[in-house]
Amino acid sequence: MNEPHISILVEEFLEQFSDRSLEVFVDGTLGAGGHAKAILDAHPEIKIFVGFDRDESAMEIAMERLKDFESKTIFISDNFANLDQRLKEKNIQNVDGFFLTWGCHLCN
Ligand SMILES: C[S@@+](CC[C@H](N)C(=O)[O-])C[C@H]1O[C@@H](n2cnc3c(N)ncnc32)[C@H](O)[C@@H]1O
Repeated sequence: MNEPHISILVEEFLEQFSDRSLEVFVDGTLGAGGHAKAILDAHPEIKIFVGFDRDESAMEIAMERLKDFESKTIFISDNFANLDQRLKEKNIQNVDGFFLTWGCHLCN
């Protein structure tokens, strides 16, 4: 994640959730936080946003980018494969939206 990151298909991503009220949202591949910022801007009703990334350098970029949402964001440096256990640890039992993206030319 040393190069500037461009989030892909952001409009299409937002469209998937446009008719939904979201209270808890999980991004399993937070990356530089571009999709995260887009969904947080579009859905101010989100009360808890959880971002997973196994790359701590990506997580640091996202944390800086999302600092305006500090009161509602939880960052977890882990593989999203462990999300069931990690969400339970945070006492999160229901999720209204979930998102994964990977394989862009700028990422691993
Ligand atoms: C394409 S980037 C995500 C871009 C992000 N949505 C954005 O807008 O900036 C993919 C990210 O997924 C992370 N990743 C890939 N597989 C993962 C996994 N199994 N668990 C957690 N993070 C993963 C990578 O470290 C990388 O930061």
